[in-house]
Amino acid sequence: MDTKTRIAALLEEAADASVSGTPAYLSGSEIAAKLGITRAAVWKCIGALKAEGYDIESVPHHGYRLGADNDTINTAGIQKYLGDLAASYAITTYDEVTSTNALLREMAENGSAPSGPCPVAVANRQTAGRGRKGRFFYSPDASGIYLSVLLHPEVSASEASNITTIAAVCACRAIEECTDSTASIKWVNDIFVNEKKVCGILTEASVNLENGGLDWAVMGIGFNVYEPADGFPKELRSIAGSIASDRQKDLRNRLIAAFLKHFHALTADLCDRSYAAEYKRRSFLVGHKVNVLTGRDTIPATAIDIDEECRLIVRYEDGHTEALFSGEVSVRPQ
Ligand code: BTN
Repeated sequence: MDTKTRIAALLEEAADASVSGTPAYLSGSEIAAKLGITRAAVWKCIGALKAEGYDIESVPHHGYRLGADNDTINTAGIQKYLGDLAASYAITTYDEVTSTNALLREMAENGSAPSGPCPVAVANRQTAGRGRKGRFFYSPDASGIYLSVLLHPEVSASEASNITTIAAVCACRAIEECTDSTASIKWVNDIFVNEKKVCGILTEASVNLENGGLDWAVMGIGFNVYEPADGFPKELRSIAGSIASDRQKDLRNRLIAAFLKHFHALTADLCDRSYAAEYKRRSFLVGHKVNVLTGRDTIPATAIDIDEECRLIVRYEDGHTEALFSGEVSVRPQ
């Protein structure tokens, strides 16, 4: 553990130990003595932690303490909420990356993924966040969670397609466990709170043509936890929303841990589709008039059901029905 991380851990410990919810200050000399470093080194690391987004109060003659609503993504913080399951995941947290999906894809493609615990990359911001259909996924600083998990599923490609729908259910559960919000699913992989998109999922995989299975799959999910500091860009304002209105202590680490717990349980058997009933219950498209967006056309239809394989059943205006596996559907005004 580097010095900066050890200082962060000391501040977290002091915050956890506080009964009143207001942590005691740790003086610069106390920290320096505990870690065997100079006060100047402590000061420098505190500056670096603040730059990473830690909410640290520095008061002359008292010292340093975490703000009551500090919510910084960090590995130890996630592991704390994962409990025994922490050993099942190899979590790396980053302040900034291009894309957590790109990182894990690269790891999978060049064979550098560690064996054993499942690799997870989590970032505080992405400079080249990837969305579906080659779109850019807006991934600003300190307000979201950008998380990818690398899997080596030993099932057919069609069974592995459950990964996305499983992730959607897990995201809803995590949001509802950690906040007062109610989460629902817009088929196939968008999560909505208060009628705004708060989460998107992108699963990328390499199909093995010899056995019809997958060499690897990377499930990436982005959560808009808080409103970004500068608000959402104009083009997203009518669509995107956030999960929480105020910063809350450790909310992002808690959401990550809750998501990973459910994801671990539901991906244990990718052939088990018993979660599909929950997927359907949480989905809000059924009963709506929709447009089915194919590469070229926009076809009006009505969403009539979601089946046990999480396919959207639509009825077109000429009366014929289709079960959609994937693709994009937009709601038409009723
Ligand atoms: C979408 O809504 O179009 C899907 C968005 C998926 C975004 C996540 S954020 C973490 C992971 N890394 C990426 O570059 N993309 C996914």
